[in-house]
Amino acid sequence: MKHFLNLKDISAKDLRKILSEAKKRKNKRKALTTLQTDRDLPLKGKLLIQMFEKSSLRTRLSFYLAIKQLGGGTITLRSNELHLGQGGETLEDTAKILSTYGDGFMLRTDDDKKINDFRKYLSIPLINGLSPSSHPTQILSDIFTVEEIKKKPISKLKITWIGDTNNVLNSLIVASVKFNFKLSIGCPKKYIPHSSLMNWIRNQKKKVHIFNKPNEAVKDADVIFSDKVISLNDKVNVKQKLSHFKSFRITPNLIKKANKDCIFLHCLPRGPEVDRKVFLSKRSKVWHQALNRVHVQKSILLYCFDKLR
Ligand code: CP
Ligand code: NVA
Repeated sequence: MKHFLNLKDISAKDLRKILSEAKKRKNKRKALTTLQTDRDLPLKGKLLIQMFEKSSLRTRLSFYLAIKQLGGGTITLRSNELHLGQGGETLEDTAKILSTYGDGFMLRTDDDKKINDFRKYLSIPLINGLSPSSHPTQILSDIFTVEEIKKKPISKLKITWIGDTNNVLNSLIVASVKFNFKLSIGCPKKYIPHSSLMNWIRNQKKKVHIFNKPNEAVKDADVIFSDKVISLNDKVNVKQKLSHFKSFRITPNLIKKANKDCIFLHCLPRGPEVDRKVFLSKRSKVWHQALNRVHVQKSILLYCFDKLR
């Protein structure tokens, strides 16, 4: 069994294998309906337990469909309904019970330490469904979407991120090393990526380019990514932070500065960082992006259960 916690921990070869499997399975089920299972039922009889300490629409539904299509099932727990955190049950005991009842555990948490603690005590695969420091399932799926739409390896494309430094960007930065693509980041000076991540990149002998002017960041971009300026449970002065990002709004004018066939991606939910006209334009592939999560999640599950072909 394997965990899926951070793209850093997974070899480039395995990440590529996950994407190839997703492509094969996606192609094979073109004629199938939402809940029809893949013919080989590779996870028949397996139960994925999902737990959310924060809201979720896409991650919850995509894991639901992913495990169902592979022949298994899922149950979703809300952390505030468990003894853990409420009635004094320890994380260790909770993890042992989860490992007894279930076959895999997907956790969305507000606390990176919890991911490490669960990893220590679980004897089933653990998947990080978003933590403060990373959102690896999202970004792996987004690489899949980029390559599917652009019909070329992401290493041949220029990717730009406009917006806050957050979990999604952290995973995109790691992906730029694992998949070897050019990444430019446009953000206000105060919000540049954390020095520990920049040092990690340097140690990998790679580079990301940081710009404090959005026009410069999007120059020659094939793909522009963005995300909410105010993340879930972000404890900041919202008005002030939004004002810092005012000139980083993704508008039709900004998109014009990128390559003419540039696409726009956003993991959703969205906020004022992107103009509605851009979000609903032909350039925007956000709905396609969201649905692809099912296909990549399936492959991530197979990786965790040592079932990748
Ligand atoms: N993009 C994403 O993770 O969406 P949810 O928060 O709805 O799961
Ligand atoms: N950065 C966002 C992603 C939401 C899917 C957040 O953490 O809220």
